[in-house]
Amino acid sequence: MEKDPVVPHYWHRRNEVLPSFYNYCHEKGKVCLEARKLTLRFGGITALDGVSFHVQQGEIHAIVGPNGAGKSSLLNCISGLYRPQQGEILVRGQDLVGLSPDKISMLGLGRTFQRLALFKGMTVLENIFVGRHSFIRAGLLAGAFYWGKGVREDIRNQAMVEEIIEFLEIEHLRNVPVGELSYGLQKRVELGRALALEPAVLLLDEPVAGMNLEEKEDMARFILDVKEDLGLAVVLIEHELDMVMDISDRVTVMNFGRVIGEGQPAQVVQIPEVVAAYVGAEGQRPA
Ligand SMILES: Nc1ncnc2c1ncn2[C@@H]1O[C@H](COP(=O)(O)OP(=O)(O)OP(=O)(O)O)[C@@H](O)[C@H]1O
Ligand SMILES: [Mg+2]
Repeated sequence: MEKDPVVPHYWHRRNEVLPSFYNYCHEKGKVCLEARKLTLRFGGITALDGVSFHVQQGEIHAIVGPNGAGKSSLLNCISGLYRPQQGEILVRGQDLVGLSPDKISMLGLGRTFQRLALFKGMTVLENIFVGRHSFIRAGLLAGAFYWGKGVREDIRNQAMVEEIIEFLEIEHLRNVPVGELSYGLQKRVELGRALALEPAVLLLDEPVAGMNLEEKEDMARFILDVKEDLGLAVVLIEHELDMVMDISDRVTVMNFGRVIGEGQPAQVVQIPEVVAAYVGAEGQRPA
């Protein structure tokens, strides 16, 4: 396979048998994802209006803002579900705009959805395995004979899925159909599926929405572990300001499709526009 200079460098080790999930080297502090002047319109609605922001390797970068601010639209542009009319989304120098979601995920961007997107009838193990579909590429011939490359890939995929299951502390649930799990655990499985793509940047759209307090605390801990133990950058869309303040390194605040503030959590809450947007938002947020 041709080596592509823009993909994260651990990509080049993916063909090795059983590389440890925990030992990928990352260049902490480097910009790993950058959006420049994104504009996205739906008919008369401008969901994104010249949005620029960047994410550094190894940070948790929160995106907050009232309902309809454009947060999910931004994530959907980054992951290739929406195509902005203007602007660029750069990963290591390559513009992602116009690439398919599959191609984008293979460049190292993994995501979860605001609404759950799991196969309820399939087990935890199977759902996480689905996240590795892009890596299952030995082809029909190897598959038919089931040795050589096919077996090596299979071993590697299974080992990766097991590492993720262990990392997320759901070993005892591996054979349980996802539909039988609590909501909080289902969201954890969804996180596992996103990790199965071996992303360099993880995009999370409201990962604790609808959870009880204990589930929220668990998820916050796993998000921190993703950053600290796996060294990934995390883009976190979240309405729970307490959690954002606790775990994020930097925050981008959006309102009406624009960025209205950016900085460390303690700094952004002092920006008057942000305070105004949030005071206004409290009343609008459905229970
Ligand atoms: N597929 C779509 N078709 C039409 N309009 C859309 C679509 N997706 C988003 N929008 C509109 O774009 C604007 C931004 O929506 P978006 O979902 O990005 O907001 P958000 O910040 O994620 O809000 P929330 O906190 O409620 O999830 C809204 O006005 C929304 O109605
Ligand atoms: Mg949203």
